[in-house]
Amino acid sequence: MNVNGLPLDKLRTRTSEKWSGFAPDVLPMPVAEMDFEVAAPIRQTLIAMIENSDTGYMGDTAHLNRNFATFAQAQWGWNIDQEQLFLCTDVGVGMIEMSRTVVQPGDKIMINTPVYLNMINWIKELKCVAVDAPMHKDGLNYTLDLAAIEAGYKEGVKIHYLCNPQNPTGSVHSREDLAAIADLAKRYGVYVFSDEIHGPLVFDEEKFVPFLSVSDAAREIGVCVTAASKAWNLAGLKCAFIITHSEPMSALAKSMPPSVRFRASLLGAHATAKAFECTEWLEGVMQTLDANRLFVQEQLATKLPKANYRIPNCSYLAWIELCDYELGENPSQVLLDEGRVALTPGHLFGSDCDQFVRLNFATSKEIIAEGIDRIVAAVSKS
Ligand SMILES: Cc1ncc(COP(=O)(O)O)c(C=O)c1O
Repeated sequence: MNVNGLPLDKLRTRTSEKWSGFAPDVLPMPVAEMDFEVAAPIRQTLIAMIENSDTGYMGDTAHLNRNFATFAQAQWGWNIDQEQLFLCTDVGVGMIEMSRTVVQPGDKIMINTPVYLNMINWIKELKCVAVDAPMHKDGLNYTLDLAAIEAGYKEGVKIHYLCNPQNPTGSVHSREDLAAIADLAKRYGVYVFSDEIHGPLVFDEEKFVPFLSVSDAAREIGVCVTAASKAWNLAGLKCAFIITHSEPMSALAKSMPPSVRFRASLLGAHATAKAFECTEWLEGVMQTLDANRLFVQEQLATKLPKANYRIPNCSYLAWIELCDYELGENPSQVLLDEGRVALTPGHLFGSDCDQFVRLNFATSKEIIAEGIDRIVAAVSKS
């Protein structure tokens, strides 16, 4: 199935953050939303619900649990326990509400930078303290640093927020590393909360490994929080879920206030259930993203040869280092001011990332090329 980026004039009529958050002459390439049409069966589900005025509070969602279980088994060989799937508003709310069941203000939560910027914000919201065990960096190849993680665990970390797979670096963690983390976490009494929202977007050369599938230790101390919102572009519909795979962890999930489930949206739950059936559409998206990640490389190599970029193994976010262009403390600001292209600033993802920008390539090749032309124009002006 062909899934292609929509034309710019159509995208500019959208009201989402990406398309309404910038001046009209800016080309927006930050926020992780996709510039594709939502899969037709999802649109039909939503239209039918609206036409039936079926817009009340959350009802029975056994079909969502079943569809995710079927998807997880087919894609990753992961057998999920449908009784241990708990709905929540979005991944952020799921991570925060589950965290509240085990942390007090002042407790330590581990992250591995560069990492999804809101993980840092979630820790602030909980009034907890972030402990960073930065990713090991070899060129632009990032891997989890087990020694740094163990050192952090020894400091008395309560929860480890794992980004599996990793945004913004596009790294897919190995089964061995995940199993080693589970063993360490069990030994030091740390909970691992694995944010797996980018899991369905792993390219063929790698294999996504759900954290809870790696070992008994992982199931004893682990939680997965995920959603269909990244892979099927449903973030505005507000539905995500928490999965546990052991009695103690499901007891924690059940100790969350009942409102956590009811704050998810009914439309979101039905769209999510349908999304997990739309596997052909997802394959189409992956083909387009695969071509786009290579196109970004070609474009950079010809137009911006001093930029560093490693083709990501998942998702649609290009992590680009611009230090050789000497654009000052915040290159993304120069690109916005001088090139009228909006990218996510690297410094939001952790220290030592200020010379990076993150570019969203879930769009058409025309828009990618235009975005890179605007970067080139900004660089040549400054
Ligand atoms: C790793 C990661 N987790 C969570 C989110 C946001 O999820 P939600 O909108 O469900 O909170 C994103 C969005 O880009 C993400 O990259």
